[in-house]
Order: sequence, then structure tokens, then C-alpha cells
Amino acid sequence: MGKKSTKDILAQLRAEAAAKKGEPAPQQESAAGAAAGGGPAEKPAVPKKPAAAGGSTKDILAAARAQAAGGGAPAAKPAAAAKPAAKPAAGAKAAAAKPAGERPSVQEMLRAAREGRPLQPAEPPREAAAFRKPVSPAAAKKARPEKTAAPLTRRQALIETITSPFVMAWVAFATATAAFLLATLRFLIPNILVEPPSRFKIGIPSDYPPDMVSTKWTPEFGVWVVNTVYEGQRQIFALISVCTHLGCTPNWLDGEQKFKCPCHGSGFYITGINFEGPAPRPLERAAIALAPDGTLEVDKSQKFQQEMGQWENPSSYVPVV
Ligand code: FES
Repeated sequence: MGKKSTKDILAQLRAEAAAKKGEPAPQQESAAGAAAGGGPAEKPAVPKKPAAAGGSTKDILAAARAQAAGGGAPAAKPAAAAKPAAKPAAGAKAAAAKPAGERPSVQEMLRAAREGRPLQPAEPPREAAAFRKPVSPAAAKKARPEKTAAPLTRRQALIETITSPFVMAWVAFATATAAFLLATLRFLIPNILVEPPSRFKIGIPSDYPPDMVSTKWTPEFGVWVVNTVYEGQRQIFALISVCTHLGCTPNWLDGEQKFKCPCHGSGFYITGINFEGPAPRPLERAAIALAPDGTLEVDKSQKFQQEMGQWENPSSYVPVV
């Protein structure tokens, strides 16, 4: 038995549909007659389209699709199922090759009709049905798998805690508060200027030979210790190393036996009397005395000025005998 043509299958389906409804079956066109092209006596009448059967190709295909979709639609054509399967292996192969849930094509429907097997159910697979079904956003969110955050390590947790805005804000606030408190505390503590004591010992008188100026105590206490003759009397006295012009510190020039101020050139003799430059008056003396232990003791808290006649005060010198 040869392979049925599409035309034959359609005609058969129409005939079966008409038989179901109790109508006369439409005449079938003989393929052989048509192929022979004989005279009008042998040529079978061309089957007219049964209007009552509704058997257009479109209708038949729609019925076949409905059958495939529902499995028992009233418009389905049972004739195809009654047909013996010509090539069941090929049909099954095609059905298996077709993806499940996909709408069968015309060729497949015709092939199924030729083979007499029902069309593959058009029921979509679960995944495809779920995909096509309109899903509300809430349901989609619920169905979406939740992201499972990886557990933080201790180091990551510490870093996240430290770098959090809350902690950083508190650190900034604590730092500003501490700085403010420190500034306040520093403001409450007065500046302390450490000055050398005004009273200090400079050794015994023999440490200062005649007509010599000792600069030993100048850097620390700001005095020169001089052993010279003043007003006909050899004496040891302490000259304060501050220029009487504007307060610079003069230098002792041993070769020239004078004090020379580097600021404006004032000059002073070894006795402290000014003799050149802008200095208006002699250098000042500090109080000096011989302590009970035989050492010389200087007291800068007492000063003696030559122009005031204070160098005559015994506290301004220690006589050398
Ligand atoms: Fe010494 Fe002016 S300060 S000469």
C-alpha cells in the first residue's frame, strides 16, 4: 500500500466527519483516474466540497490541532486514528524529535493522520507553562531564589564595623572632644620660663688673676668676672653682660682690653666704663660677696650703676688684698 497523499487524507477526514453527522459522504476523487486523465465516463466526478461537513482544509487542521491540544475535542477527526499506521517508526521518531509542548505543524498533523496515530498532546511542559503564565511581581519575587550571603570572616566583620559611618562619626566626635579638652588643659597651665638662679657661686678669688676678665659664667649667668683696679683699689666685681645702649651682649676683646658691642659699636673699658659708641652709660655691676666657705657668690638680683655712684657700695665688689 502506497503512501497516502494529502488530498486523500483530507477527503477521508471529510467523509468521516460527514458520516458522523449523518450526511452523505462526498465523492472521492480517484487518484488513479486523475492521473490517467481519461474521458469523462471514467473520470470520477470531482468531489464537491461538503458545505455541511465544514470540511475545509483549514477546518480539518483546526480540528486536528484541537484534538492534539485537548485530546477529545468534538471537532476532532477520528478517521485519522482509525487508519493503520504506515510508518510508525518514522512517526514516532518525528514525534520524539519535536520538542514537547510545541504546536504541531501541518506536516506533522498530516503525517499523524496517515499513520493513524493521535497527534502529540499539545500540553506544554511545566516549565514552559510556568514561563508563559503571567506572574505577578510578588510571586516572581517569592519564586526567585534568595541570595544566600556568604558568612563574613572575622576580619571582614571587623573592617565593616570600623568603616561603618556610625563608628566613624563617633570616632570623629571623640577625637574632636579630646582635642578640645587637651587645648583647654594646656590653656590652664601657664608657660614656665626656666631662668637660672639669680644667686650663684663662682669659685674662690684666686681663680681670677689680676687684670683678667673671665667669660666662664657669661653663657650661663650673663656676667663677666673682672679682677682689676678701679679708683685706686684692686677688686673683683661682676659686670652684667648687657649693653647699656639697646641691650645687646658685647664681646670681650682680650687683645684690645675692652668690651665691644657688635650691634652699634659701643666700647667699654675693662672697668665697664663706656668710652665709644652710642652706649650712654657704663655697664652695670651685680652684687658679689665672699661667702663663709671662702667662695665668691654673685647675686644678680642686685644691680649697681656707676653713674648713680653705686659702685662705691661694698656689695658691688670684693676687695683683693
Ligand atoms: Fe650695644 Fe647698641 S646695643 S651699642
